[in-house]
Amino acid sequence: MNRRRLLAAGAGLGSALAAGSVLTAAPVLAQTPPNPARESAMSGDPGRTGRKARIFITGSASGLGHAAASTLLAQGNKVVVHVRSESRLPAVKELVDQGAVATIGDLSDTAQIRDIAGQVNAIGRMDAVIHNAGVISGAQLLVVNVVAPYLLTALVQRPRRLIYLSSSMHTGGRASLDGMDWSGKTATGSYSDSKLFVTALTMAVARLWPDVLSNAVNPGWVPTRMGGPSAPDDLRLGHLTQEWLATSDEPEALTSGGYWHHQKRRKPHPSVNDIGFQDQLLAELARATATALA
Ligand SMILES: NC(=O)c1ccc[n+]([C@@H]2O[C@H](COP(=O)([O-])OP(=O)(O)OC[C@H]3O[C@@H](n4cnc5c(N)ncnc54)[C@H](OP(=O)(O)O)[C@@H]3O)[C@@H](O)[C@H]2O)c1
Repeated sequence: MNRRRLLAAGAGLGSALAAGSVLTAAPVLAQTPPNPARESAMSGDPGRTGRKARIFITGSASGLGHAAASTLLAQGNKVVVHVRSESRLPAVKELVDQGAVATIGDLSDTAQIRDIAGQVNAIGRMDAVIHNAGVISGAQLLVVNVVAPYLLTALVQRPRRLIYLSSSMHTGGRASLDGMDWSGKTATGSYSDSKLFVTALTMAVARLWPDVLSNAVNPGWVPTRMGGPSAPDDLRLGHLTQEWLATSDEPEALTSGGYWHHQKRRKPHPSVNDIGFQDQLLAELARATATALA
């Protein structure tokens, strides 16, 4: 979708995407006092920790992406949300009414992923990108959970911080790329495999791009549509770490190459830090998308 169509999509929401809600490329923003108490972040206030940022969040129509967008907006950040189609725009209307800008595209379609990157780049450089969208099964699993974050990483103007949604289930993944269909035509690979791959991508980016903070987050098992209503973990904590990594100036949040759970570094599956496996994964994704990570 080009910028004109993006704005046209906004017209479908009445005033919600009026020109005033489209971000300009103006630099942001004011400083707030550094060194906030860690307790304040744990109680749900990571935004007190640093300057306000411009943040792109994939899959903001529901669940953790929507919750993170809502919190980051409330904290005064500029947020670029994302939905799969124009018919999902109502899901972000409340966010757009509060100043978010909406982007549109299906992350299971590589042409649309490229288009989303163009929409984001037309808005301007992001301070942070949260690669949040995900699915738990289906033929499109590898495209949405791995190819989309890879292509967007390659194509969106490089931000200062990159955050990828992983899962504790990545530890059950297999560090093997044999037989994977990255096109979405056939179901290959498990959810756990996909999260192992995206966590390895996170660590590869951290290694190859020292100027970027690249981190993975295990949000816990939380009660979203994916997690189900009886998920035992705390929903607020399920999106707090992403928000904190995206905006905080606390020293720990300014590190790279971490696999995080509730603002603490955890040990990931050893293969995600295996440089040989990372290189194989990058080569495979570059081949499948005809796009290298520059
Ligand atoms: N919930 C948990 O317990 C849990 C645990 C570990 C990891 N995670 C990870 O956390 C992330 C967020 O999950 P969630 O629990 O918030 O799930 P969710 O409620 O199902 O939300 C997923 C989001 O991704 C979007 N999405 C999915 N496929 C898409 C596509 N093809 N194109 C565009 N957008 C697409 C969805 O849009 P629609 O609403 O339009 O479908 C939705 O906004 C995922 O990466 C997930 O793997 C979740």
